[in-house]
Amino acid sequence: MTLRIEGYVIVSADGMLADARNVMPDELKFEGDKAFFTAALDRVDLILHGRNSHEDQPNSPRRRRIILTRNIGAIAPDPSNPKATLWNPAGASFEAACEHAGIETGTVAVIGGPGVFGMFMDRCDVFWLSVASKVRIPNGEPGFPGVPARSPQNILAAHGLRAGTPQILDAAEGVSVTPWRRDT
Ligand SMILES: NC(=O)c1ccc[n+]([C@@H]2O[C@H](COP(=O)([O-])OP(=O)(O)OC[C@H]3O[C@@H](n4cnc5c(N)ncnc54)[C@H](OP(=O)(O)O)[C@@H]3O)[C@@H](O)[C@H]2O)c1
Repeated sequence: MTLRIEGYVIVSADGMLADARNVMPDELKFEGDKAFFTAALDRVDLILHGRNSHEDQPNSPRRRRIILTRNIGAIAPDPSNPKATLWNPAGASFEAACEHAGIETGTVAVIGGPGVFGMFMDRCDVFWLSVASKVRIPNGEPGFPGVPARSPQNILAAHGLRAGTPQILDAAEGVSVTPWRRDT
């Protein structure tokens, strides 16, 4: 099995991906970032996320996905979505879940939440970190385990990833995305 693993998140300037109620607030939603994220997900082979992190885009029903949940023991089809595999990492390996999803090779996009990012950070080939530099979310939900004691950038670096050239996604709102790639 040869899989390329990519992470995707947008965080506030203080490293949060959701508000105090664990909901992604409108302040973190930007057309430029949405377009970047949509195009990225359209070209991957598989999406991986926790039960609360569905990307909710027009093409979502067409995408194969693995959803983490403790509601099952190991691996099961999702009764509500023929393209989805339910996976409990306590009961089965990631490779077994990919096999169930019909994916042996290709690119996997890991799209959250924080615990899922933490689980896959050491395996990511690249992590696309979008930052909304003008937004702060006091008492928000940290983007990665370890935020806010450390910044998301510090955490990515500690996991062996190095920042590449940022792309501006929304100049007026100060939103950019930076690829953090593993040294090879
Ligand atoms: N800004 C962004 O880019 C971004 C990215 C992702 C998410 N978000 C936001 O963050 C919030 C969701 O965060 P969340 O903390 O609820 O994360 P989540 O990972 O999407 O969902 C948590 C659920 O996933 C399952 N899960 C997670 N880790 C698991 C594990 N190790 N083993 C088995 N099951 C596991 C569990 O489901 P069960 O309860 O079924 O057992 C858990 O309750 C949402 O508001 C979402 O919109 C924002």
